[in-house]
Amino acid sequence: MPYFHYDHNELFAEGVKLKDIAHEFGTPCYVYSRAALQKNWQTFNEAFENMPHRICYAVKANSNIAILNILARLQSGFDIVSIGELERVLAAGGDPKKIVFSGVGKKPAEILRALEVGIYCFNVESVVELALLNTLAKQVNKVANIALRVNPNIDAHTHPYIATGLKDNKFGIEYELTSRIARDIANMPNIKLVGIACHIGSQLTDMDPFMQAVDRILDLVSLLTADGIILEHINIGGGLGVRYQDEEPPSIETYVKALRNKLDKFPYEVILEPGRAITANAGVLLTKIEYLKHTPHKNFAIVDTAMNDLMRPALYDAWQEILPVTVNSHHQEEVYDIVGPVCESADFLGKDRRLRLQTGELLAICSAGAYGFSMSSNYNSRPRVAEVMVDQHHTYLIRERETVTSLFANEKLIP
Ligand code: LLP
Repeated sequence: MPYFHYDHNELFAEGVKLKDIAHEFGTPCYVYSRAALQKNWQTFNEAFENMPHRICYAVKANSNIAILNILARLQSGFDIVSIGELERVLAAGGDPKKIVFSGVGKKPAEILRALEVGIYCFNVESVVELALLNTLAKQVNKVANIALRVNPNIDAHTHPYIATGLKDNKFGIEYELTSRIARDIANMPNIKLVGIACHIGSQLTDMDPFMQAVDRILDLVSLLTADGIILEHINIGGGLGVRYQDEEPPSIETYVKALRNKLDKFPYEVILEPGRAITANAGVLLTKIEYLKHTPHKNFAIVDTAMNDLMRPALYDAWQEILPVTVNSHHQEEVYDIVGPVCESADFLGKDRRLRLQTGELLAICSAGAYGFSMSSNYNSRPRVAEVMVDQHHTYLIRERETVTSLFANEKLIP
């Protein structure tokens, strides 16, 4: 994580000490590096040079409008899954013509709003969705661009909760049915088929499943071409993994190069929907140690952040590096479970970490820029935390910490 680095035993985000950020904005708080975000996006973009492509950032990974705005200024496209994400992208200055809309459960109001603002493409996940889209587009006198999202039945070798390309998963259209459905679209005057899409899972660390998925898509495209169906794009989805611990995912360059090797001869635009690979390593979650609790069996560092702020360890048993913000070699080294104040034993941020700690000191939970804040909740009536963007030596508060009164502002007593 070159954008987060130690200098004289102090952890920095770009040119700013994390200690100073904690002092100014309080803890817990998410801290992002603008340079890291931009670099990751640009690496995808540049790896595709000379080949028609569109990088549609998966908004779900981190949907703060400052982040969306930074990416919009790089001319990014966006992959959305709800009207909430759509409105965020628009508020952030994103171009509707670069939006693709994924998801198995799009509601009529969401589809109508997306038609109204003129998004580029709906990634359609079922025949019933296709029929609804045709009806709604007809109502408003529009033709909806669509890609059929296929389920290629490929094992992505990832956590079962984030594998999406197996036939038991709810995602996508059965591979074998796709060419027939594509032909039927000729009878739907308010639908235009422009692409084939897939997304087989997230945090993939191996190229093989991606390669298999591309092969299956290309087979399908050949079938369609033989039927006279001409597309505009192929969408490979997101899913490229990052290094949290000792994983060795392909670099963005290696990943794009491998895709290009297969896709170079096809005259279509290639769309990717990366989320994690853009934001994960561009963010940390800063937290303060409230108590060190020693028992005969275990040592606990009880911190002020919890599973409601960062759900990945509790939900997926995910491992994220935890670093001291100030390295202090005088403290006794011990093995700790880093836990939060929430009343569940699933409320841990890290287990069995060998660290030198003292009450009141700060820790940084690393690789927290993706699926961190965006999955956070108010469980245990905990206000959601602040978010701060670092740009070289500057810091910007990009989301205020919620207040306790805001937590129940929309609730009503009954007579
Ligand atoms: N496109 C589609 C259709 C998706 O469903 C997803 C992620 C992406 C793109 C972006 O995937 P990425 O490049 O970020 O892997 N909460 C989980 C990850 C859930 C991913 C859901 N879909 C986690 O924290 O690991």
